[in-house]
Amino acid sequence: AANSMWGGRFAAGPDAIMEAINASIGFDRRLYAQDIRGSRAHAAMLAAQGIISDSDAKAIGEGLLTVLSEIEAGNFPFSTALEDIHMNVEARLKEIIGEPAGRLHTGRSRNDQVATDFRLWVRDQCDAAIAGLQALIRAALAQAESGADWVMPGFTHLQTAQPVTWGHHMMAYVEMFGRDLGRFRDARARMNESPLGAAALAGTGYPLDRAMTASALEFDRPMANSLDAVSDRDFALEFLSAASICAVHLSRLAEELVIWSSAQFRFVSMSDKWSTGSSIMPQKRNPDAAELIRAKIGRILGATVALFTVMKGLPLAYSKDMQEDKEQVFDAADSLMLALAAMGGMLSDLTANRANMEAAASAGFSTATDLADWLVREAGLPFRDAHHATGALVALAEKKGCDLDELSLAEMQSVNPAINQSVYSVLGVHNSVASRQSYGGTAPDQVRVQITRWKERLA
Ligand code: ARG
Repeated sequence: AANSMWGGRFAAGPDAIMEAINASIGFDRRLYAQDIRGSRAHAAMLAAQGIISDSDAKAIGEGLLTVLSEIEAGNFPFSTALEDIHMNVEARLKEIIGEPAGRLHTGRSRNDQVATDFRLWVRDQCDAAIAGLQALIRAALAQAESGADWVMPGFTHLQTAQPVTWGHHMMAYVEMFGRDLGRFRDARARMNESPLGAAALAGTGYPLDRAMTASALEFDRPMANSLDAVSDRDFALEFLSAASICAVHLSRLAEELVIWSSAQFRFVSMSDKWSTGSSIMPQKRNPDAAELIRAKIGRILGATVALFTVMKGLPLAYSKDMQEDKEQVFDAADSLMLALAAMGGMLSDLTANRANMEAAASAGFSTATDLADWLVREAGLPFRDAHHATGALVALAEKKGCDLDELSLAEMQSVNPAINQSVYSVLGVHNSVASRQSYGGTAPDQVRVQITRWKERLA
C-alpha cells in the first residue's frame, strides 16, 4: 500500500529494497525525545497563533507525552514502512488521538523538523563532552597537584631531553583539554539557533511565531534564513571536528600511559580496575583501556571525514544524502563520551612512581643544557661554544660509562679550564627543574601557579 503520510499520488508501495535503503528508523529512533519536544513546542505555538484550536493543541501535547512514555517503556511499535522517527511518532499519535494529529504538521516539514531534532541532540552532546572534559581535567589536576615537584625526564624524539616535573606534564594535558572544552562551548553557542519554522525550504504562509518555538526549545533565536536552516549540517561537522581534536589529545595521553606502564619505563602503575590480564601469560597486566582510547580517534575521525564527504557538493536545499549524518555523529559521540569517561577514571586511579621517574630523569645526560648554561653564565662563553664544550664532556662521560656529575673537576677542566666546583650544583635534576622559572616553565613554583589558575577557572 502507498505511504499514509505522503502517498496521495502513489498507486503502489515501495519495493522492499527501496524501503530498506530509505528507512532511518533503525538509528534515528535515538532522536525520539528531541522529536517529541520539538513537536510539542510547534503545536503550542500553532495554537497561540490561532492556526489550530486550543483543544487540538492540548490533545496533541498530551498524546505526544503518551507516545514518549511508550517509547521509554520499550513497547512502542517502531515501523520500517514509516521510514523515520518523525513519521513513526506522528502515525502513533494519530492512532492515539485521531483527527487532531493530522494538524500537527501544519506549517512544518520533516526538513526543518529533522534539522531541529538533530541540533537539539548534538547540543546535548556538547554539554556531555564539556562535563566529561571537566571531570578529566579535575583528574589531571589532582595528579599534577600531588606531583608538582616530582622530577621525570622530558622527551623530544622520545629521547631524554631535559628534566621536567610530573605536575608540568599533567598540566600540559590540562591545557589541551581546556582548549577542547572551549571548542565544544564555542560550537554549542554557534549551533544554538532554531531551524523550526523554515518548513520545507522557503518558509511558510502560516503566521508562525518562530521566536516562540525557538525560546521553548532553549535556542537563542530562530535561524535567519530558511534555506540555510534546512540545508546545513555545519553544526554536526563542528561537533565532529572538536571531537576529533579532543580524540587526538586523548590518544596521545593514552599512548604515553601505555609506554609509561611498560616494564621498561615503570613511571606509572595502573590500578586493577583499569587493567586486564592474559589468558596464557600469568604475569601480564595490560593497559587495554588506554589502548582502546588510543584507537578511538580512528572511528571519530572516520565519522568526521565521512560527513564532510557527504556534505561537499550538495546543492541547496535538503537532499536525502543528509540522512547519513546521524549514524556518524551517533557513533563518534558515543566513542568520545566513553573515551573521556575511561580516561578520567584511569587517571584518577593511576599511581605515578616518583622514584622510578626521578632515576630515569637523572640518566641520559638530561642536565647537559644546564651545564652549557653554566658555562655561558659563569665563564662568559657564547652559547654555541658552551654547547660544543658540553658535548665534549658528554662524550667523555659516555666513554667512561658515567654520568656528567661523576666526572672529576680535573676532567671537566681538561675541556674548559674555567670550570670550577660550583658547576656540580647545576647538574642535579632538582636544581635543573627549579631553575626553569620562566613563565609556563617546569619549575615547581610555576607549575603550582598553573594549578591554582585552573582550580579558579573550574570553581
Ligand atoms: N529521515 C530524514 C533525515 O534524516 C528526515 C527528513 C526527510 N525529509 C524528506 N524530505 N525526505 O534526513
